[in-house]
Amino acid sequence: MSAALTLRGVGLTYATRRGEIDALSGVDLQVGDGEFVALLGPSGCGKSTVLKLAAGLMSATTGEVLLADKPVNGPGRQAGVVFQKPNLLPWKTVLENVLLPARTLRLPAAPAKARALEMLELVGLAQFAADYPYELSGGMQQRVGIARMLLHDPHLLLMDEPFAALDALSREALTLELQRIWSAQRKSVLFITHSIQEAVFLADRVLVMSPGPGRIIEALPIPLARPRTPETLADADFLALCQHLRRYFSHA
Ligand SMILES: Nc1ncnc2c1ncn2[C@@H]1O[C@H](COP(=O)(O)OP(=O)(O)O)[C@@H](O)[C@H]1O
Ligand SMILES: [Mg+2]
Repeated sequence: MSAALTLRGVGLTYATRRGEIDALSGVDLQVGDGEFVALLGPSGCGKSTVLKLAAGLMSATTGEVLLADKPVNGPGRQAGVVFQKPNLLPWKTVLENVLLPARTLRLPAAPAKARALEMLELVGLAQFAADYPYELSGGMQQRVGIARMLLHDPHLLLMDEPFAALDALSREALTLELQRIWSAQRKSVLFITHSIQEAVFLADRVLVMSPGPGRIIEALPIPLARPRTPETLADADFLALCQHLRRYFSHA
């Protein structure tokens, strides 16, 4: 079976001044083509470490990390990444911020600009292209980050708690928006969160990680119909899935 992302027997040990920290141990996971996978786990269990390995920002201590069945080898064009903070450059406009990766990825200028404008349209920010980040709300800034992630049309989206810093209403709106973008663009997604509701709402499958050293302790399919809507949040099946996951975190 072809998979957008595969981790097989992955372990990661950080060397620190206070000795070695085993962040991950024996992690096996897959994100299928076009699949939306949420990775759920308590703080410090190694979620961001998984994402950095998938993005090629670090190498695994043991095991294999494959993108489309090939070993990942440094940051590349296959994946697009967003973090909790959008890391926008304050002296650049919204459009220039979306275009930031164009040079490193060696994208030809004119098509890159056209694509950037298209992605700003997709995230509902077309009319803000010439504004500066300080003129935007936190939710709008995070949308700029999403447009930037999509600039080079990556096959795999890697998202590390992208909405965690937002207020509850922006968070809900962006969750709906992400579902829309994902279904329009047919991407494969690894979405990291510590919100049970967010994971169940968005994902085809929720992977639960144990406290550190992290490994996957459950892979839960989410058979809820799409598109999911605000009414889904009150759906009995939705609530039962959340309740099932909650028992892993009742001591957190
Ligand atoms: N650069 C680093 N150097 C040393 N230890 C780290 C580093 N990054 C993360 N860790 C440790 O690895 C563990 C997992 O961290 P992380 O992947 O950030 O977890 P999560 O994203 O689930 O909160 C934690 O114990 C953390 O302190
Ligand atoms: Mg993290």
